[in-house]
Amino acid sequence: MDIKSAVGDISELDCDVVIVNLFEGVESPSGATGSVDVSLGGIISELIQEGEINGKEGSITLLHTFGKIPPKRVLVLGLGEKERFDLDVVRKVTADSCRYLRRKGIKSIGSILHGAGIGGLRSVDSAQAMTEGALLGLYSFNEYKKKNEAEENLIDEFIFVEKDGRKISRIDEGIATGVILSDATILARELVNQPSNVMTPTLLAKHAEAVASESGLDVSVLDREQCEELQMGAFLGIAQGSNEPPKFIVLRYTGDSENPSNNLGLIGKGITFDTGGISLKSAAGMGEMKSDMAGGASVIAAMKAIAKFKPKINVMAIVAATENMPSGTAIKPADILRAMNGTTIEIDNTDAEGRVTLADALCYAREQGIGRIVDIATLTGAIITALGKVRLGVFGNDQPLIDLVLTAGDESGEKMWQLPMDKEYKEQNQSNVADIKNTGGAGAGSITAAHFIGEFAKDISWVHLDIAGMAMTDRERGLHVKGATGIPVRSLVKLALNLASHPSP
Ligand code: BES
Ligand code: ZN
Ligand code: ZN
Repeated sequence: MDIKSAVGDISELDCDVVIVNLFEGVESPSGATGSVDVSLGGIISELIQEGEINGKEGSITLLHTFGKIPPKRVLVLGLGEKERFDLDVVRKVTADSCRYLRRKGIKSIGSILHGAGIGGLRSVDSAQAMTEGALLGLYSFNEYKKKNEAEENLIDEFIFVEKDGRKISRIDEGIATGVILSDATILARELVNQPSNVMTPTLLAKHAEAVASESGLDVSVLDREQCEELQMGAFLGIAQGSNEPPKFIVLRYTGDSENPSNNLGLIGKGITFDTGGISLKSAAGMGEMKSDMAGGASVIAAMKAIAKFKPKINVMAIVAATENMPSGTAIKPADILRAMNGTTIEIDNTDAEGRVTLADALCYAREQGIGRIVDIATLTGAIITALGKVRLGVFGNDQPLIDLVLTAGDESGEKMWQLPMDKEYKEQNQSNVADIKNTGGAGAGSITAAHFIGEFAKDISWVHLDIAGMAMTDRERGLHVKGATGIPVRSLVKLALNLASHPSP
């Protein structure tokens, strides 16, 4: 779909449908909606009087114009209560209305910028949010289906119409930003939606290499032998049960070569399928564990966008990719692994594998001189108990960096919630036979998991995002469709951009 801007009057646009909007409770529409209403002989006001159009968030009324104006149809879109209106509403109602129009077989859409008038939003932000809503809301994963509604009914163009020509350059800027962020999010969704027989560690590494060559990033992919040389006993311990060769993927973006210490490490959990290993998961819902590399996918995808925005900061993405399989060569409960930094780990449960692979990834990042780390992992079922599928969990050892991550989440509309990390929780990870145990027993499972990772971050500024509840969704809502969400790609990119403009958090 081609998204672009145009100067002019929305009621003059030659396209299949134009979208105008209305806040809840407004009785006589003003602005562009008002002028379309006048051209249509007051039909919108009349339908408001009759209660047919009410402006409730996401409500849709489709009117046919029968030659009164060039566009064949007018869609009146509800923006909800003015007090609750924000960019998130813009993303959501844009996604909803685009999907509605796709079902109708519409090819070309014109729209006014939602909220850029009386809504009080800047046109650059509104244009970005509408772009994200359209591209992400219309996304569908259709590689394996012969017939697919989304593929057959492609919308060709979406034009943002603005009367004031001076605003066009800002609108174009918002569209360009939205396209980059949506493309990256869609890349993450594509990687996660692939089944694990396709998206093996080897293929994930190939995708990282492709991103690197398209975007001018440095890439290295370490194989089992190279990881052995680096003594990554934790990562390789998890990998030893699988026939798929593990890959330790490293992408580097250099935006500030003169200041190597102005850097950020993005570490994504990369379990391409989590059976649980010898501590085997139960069958019900196990297929969802193809998404256990969603953190890894999100950091590879974020790098693609970061390379386009070119912020003045050095960013390294790391994904320790492997399957977690039960087999004759798999690790077993009570086995002890030795991480790259010499720390020994007692495996209490082979299903708590993510934190073990992350341990070596954090050791590697530290050795590379990374001073700020954000790790992203589908780490614990416990985070779903705590926060459900609405917010991802945020943990860390440095409140200023945590605050920057929370801000980036707010700005992107990717909901987050910080959880506590009191040191008392850490005691649950104590082992009788090794330096640390890979489970924390009953209670606060997401916090003890975070503490395990924190043990390897040591004194480095570090934030951990537990996205177990957020990587996949089984319902269509706003810019999310069934399957992978691509969370938290947009927040990670925003964080890198914000860090670059305010170098020390
Ligand atoms: N990959 C899972 C966590 C997960 C659960 C992700 C549900 C997405 C949806 C992780 O490796 C895991 O199995 N964690 C265990 C840890 C436990 C054994 C201490 C869990 O949460 O049950
Ligand atoms: Zn597991
Ligand atoms: Zn896992």
